[in-house]
Amino acid sequence: TSEAMLDQLYRHDDQGWHAPKVNMVGAMVADSCFAARPSDIIVASLPKSGTTWIKALVFATVHRDEYRPADADDHPFHSVSPHECISFLEFRLYSGNRIPNLDKLPDPRLFATHVPFMALPRTIRTTSCKIVYVCRDPKDTLVSTWYFLNKFRARAGMDPLTVERAAELFCDGLSPFGPYWDHVLGYWRAHLAHPEKVLFFRYEEMQRDPAAHVRRLAEFVGLPFDVGEEEDGVVAAIVRMCSFEHMSGLKATKHGSMMTKDGPIANSLFYRRGVVGDWVNHLSPEVARRIDAITQARFMGSGLNV
Ligand code: A3P
Repeated sequence: TSEAMLDQLYRHDDQGWHAPKVNMVGAMVADSCFAARPSDIIVASLPKSGTTWIKALVFATVHRDEYRPADADDHPFHSVSPHECISFLEFRLYSGNRIPNLDKLPDPRLFATHVPFMALPRTIRTTSCKIVYVCRDPKDTLVSTWYFLNKFRARAGMDPLTVERAAELFCDGLSPFGPYWDHVLGYWRAHLAHPEKVLFFRYEEMQRDPAAHVRRLAEFVGLPFDVGEEEDGVVAAIVRMCSFEHMSGLKATKHGSMMTKDGPIANSLFYRRGVVGDWVNHLSPEVARRIDAITQARFMGSGLNV
């Protein structure tokens, strides 16, 4: 997205940042053409927060009887990326003027979104469908976004953004789904108010103990692992299958791509290093301090420590 476009998309006033067009997309999907079902499961995140990973975990967990993780050789991940297993509402399903017919999809329907909580389709907020949110350290999110954006800029023949400029845009809240801090706080407050509806995961904690997160996820969506599954090592098999090492090495990742309205996107673009704290290799101490200061000020009193 060019900077001029971003400037048009976002405006700032005394109330904070607003993303009118993104809100319009959310509202349009909500009111005229998307009706959430109580059984729907929605994966929500900011770009570059671990969306591909959480999509893989949700899909593998929900479909574990149909596609056994222990027989990972037959799993759909061998032919399609997690982004095709769980489609974004605002990119793939409602792209352009398309209104997809989602009624025939079997329960539980799995969707994803980057839209801020307050701009979600209304029925996602008002029905008892489940939202699984993942957030990541802002500095790692920024660095991952910077790499990703520059791949697109290179494809469009544009000069790369410097990391300093990318950091400025990030701190000013100029990113396609609004400021990092508002996005995270929106879902965090929804989680505090309705923990049975919004599950809140952090990328760093998932890295520390992925198995515990898979168990929590399964319970949250009403499909807890039974004793037999635990004895058979199903949780460990899901963790292994969805790991960065396994997913990034698959043929579907290395050579596959998915079609979008803007052309094909290589599946490999969604895998870079997959580690915690890579920001130290890219951000100056000054930029890191600026982001930490904003984070501290914005999250103060929220109970959220990223
Ligand atoms: P890095 O750029 O820091 O490596 P998203 O899926 O939201 O686009 O986020 C992409 C980031 O998640 C990238 O981070 C990518 O490497 C990392 N990632 C992708 N799959 C992963 C997995 N299975 N486990 C851990 N990290 C993963």
